[in-house]
Amino acid sequence: MKKIVVVYQSKYGATKKYAEWISGELSCDLFERKNVKVSDLKTYDTIIYGGGLYAVGVSGIDIITKNFPELSNKNLIVFTCGLADPMSKENTDDIKENLSKVFTTQMQNKIKLFHLRGAINYAKMGIIHKAMMSSMYKRINKKDYDSLGNEDKEFLSTYGKAVDFTDKSAILPIVQYVREL
Ligand SMILES: Cc1cc2nc3c(=O)[nH]c(=O)nc-3n(C[C@H](O)[C@H](O)[C@H](O)COP(=O)(O)O)c2cc1C
Repeated sequence: MKKIVVVYQSKYGATKKYAEWISGELSCDLFERKNVKVSDLKTYDTIIYGGGLYAVGVSGIDIITKNFPELSNKNLIVFTCGLADPMSKENTDDIKENLSKVFTTQMQNKIKLFHLRGAINYAKMGIIHKAMMSSMYKRINKKDYDSLGNEDKEFLSTYGKAVDFTDKSAILPIVQYVREL
């Protein structure tokens, strides 16, 4: 049987929830990114990495990108967790476009990507993130509403609120993909 591990980095808890659901469903090990070194991953055949989307990047993804030569013989799965609805192709294309800046072509060919929808609660947000969101709000809000893409419209409609789009059934394609490896 293949040895599987889920590694995640989560600031506000949505990625953590998905990581726990996935490891529970696959009965596999689970580590938080900060508690794991690449040497700890040596014994696994399949590594599932989950990180929240923050502006352009996936948090903590450097554990995969920096150590890719050591990990490239394994099954590598990355799931992102963001506010943008992954049912929209426009949104997933944007995420892929941003990821192409951190993943080389070889990584893009090797890593199986999934996108899950997270949560946000402005009342619990740290001061730096609040400031980032506020400047993004000002920038987007200046534009003509009809010219905005889905992601920007969703950003405006959730700005300042607490919303939670986490959904356990969204992990099923990941679980199925891993079971079929
Ligand atoms: C500063 C900031 C930037 C964000 N940027 C994006 C983004 O570019 N795309 C997106 O879909 N979600 C974005 N989000 C929403 C987070 O990805 C979402 O809250 C997710 O659930 C975070 O994962 P976590 O709860 O595991 O920390 C952003 C949130 C913050 C606070």
